[in-house]
Amino acid sequence: MTIYGPYDQILPEILSLTTERIKRLNQQVVDNNQPKLYEHLIARVKTPESMAEKCTRKGYPVTTESALRKCRDAVGIRIVCNFIDDIERCLVQLRQADWCQIIKEKDYITNAKPNGYRSYHIIINETVPYRDVDGNKPGSFYVEIQLRTIAMDSWASLEHEMKYKHNITDAERIGRELKRCADQLASCDVQMQTIRQLINSADKEE
Ligand code: GTP
Ligand code: MG
Repeated sequence: MTIYGPYDQILPEILSLTTERIKRLNQQVVDNNQPKLYEHLIARVKTPESMAEKCTRKGYPVTTESALRKCRDAVGIRIVCNFIDDIERCLVQLRQADWCQIIKEKDYITNAKPNGYRSYHIIINETVPYRDVDGNKPGSFYVEIQLRTIAMDSWASLEHEMKYKHNITDAERIGRELKRCADQLASCDVQMQTIRQLINSADKEE
């Protein structure tokens, strides 16, 4: 038995249900002749080992309750968008969705982290056809959703990989270069958005 206890089997179910729900939101938009909301989705259940490690680090008891209620990222979905504006379009859809409620938002796009990390994080409280830790069925479960552009995602992947290489010499210089790279990518995202708008308005004039 892991820290997730009886939820070991259920969390992957919630993950695929949420993924399906987000895909459906996108399909509705596309059916309405609007551009797709995102390029791709990445979905994962946090491993029981890293969840147990997180609870210990945060000073929570290593229990199923902590894993599902105190921590809110046991189930996580990353929405990777083509353009910055698509992030807001996704948020509009999620805010309107009847199956979830956004309970927390962190805008690391307007306010990038000092290292250059950019992404929009939300925690949703989702209604699902499973019994939750409070004994309710349908139950409610937290899901963390990260929304970012392809550029933000590529930066975060590289930075994440390097964070775990502790034998790096000259970490300070690397941090500086990474920050510079993040800012350049952010400026590209703005340029790409402008190009898209130019193409859109040229289309309308035709
Ligand atoms: P924890 O969930 O305990 O880490 O704290 P938190 O909820 O305050 O974290 P936050 O919402 O800021 O970030 C949660 C997730 O965002 C992490 O698990 C990463 O996936 C991602 N993230 C946040 N900061 C960084 C960063 O500097 N670099 C990268 N690569 N990813 C980050
Ligand atoms: Mg978190």
